[in-house]
Amino acid sequence: MKKRDIFLLLAGVALVTFLWMAPEETTAPVPHDEIHEPFFAVAAKEGRKAAEASCTQCHNAEMVPFTENHPTTFRCLFCHKLK
Ligand code: HEC
Ligand code: HEC
Repeated sequence: MKKRDIFLLLAGVALVTFLWMAPEETTAPVPHDEIHEPFFAVAAKEGRKAAEASCTQCHNAEMVPFTENHPTTFRCLFCHKLK
């Protein structure tokens, strides 16, 4: 019983560490350029959800398509940080 508790604890710590580290290091942040600069202000004032509402105006199959293995296409700013 005790050994199992320690194992679960370590597994939990490992999982949290993994989730914490992985997106931060591998996912491109939102660039600071003319296109994206306005969203930094929107996110600061009205929240990330309000800023995200505009992303798919350009980031869609017709204009700036996603890569084939791109994960989900909502809540952009969970993964792509505004630095
Ligand atoms: C007006 C059109 C437009 C809108 C709106 C827009 N983007 Fe972009 N985005 C682009 C274009 C074009 C590129 C590729 C050129 C560049 O890097 O600026 C790009 C590139 C990117 C990149 C890749 C940067 C890199 O390092 O390769 C990310 C991440 C991104 N956008 C996220 C977002 C997010 C998140 C939003 C919403 C908050 C958003 N974009 C809204 C046009 C847009
Ligand atoms: C679950 C996390 C996640 C979400 C949510 C997400 N992305 Fe991504 N995005 C990634 C990862 C990981 C990559 C790199 C993998 C790849 O190249 O396909 C990526 C790649 C990109 C790229 C190309 C970046 C480059 O370096 O060329 C753009 C542009 C982009 N995402 C925009 C968006 C937009 C806009 C949204 C919301 C509509 C969004 N992403 C939602 C994880 C995410």
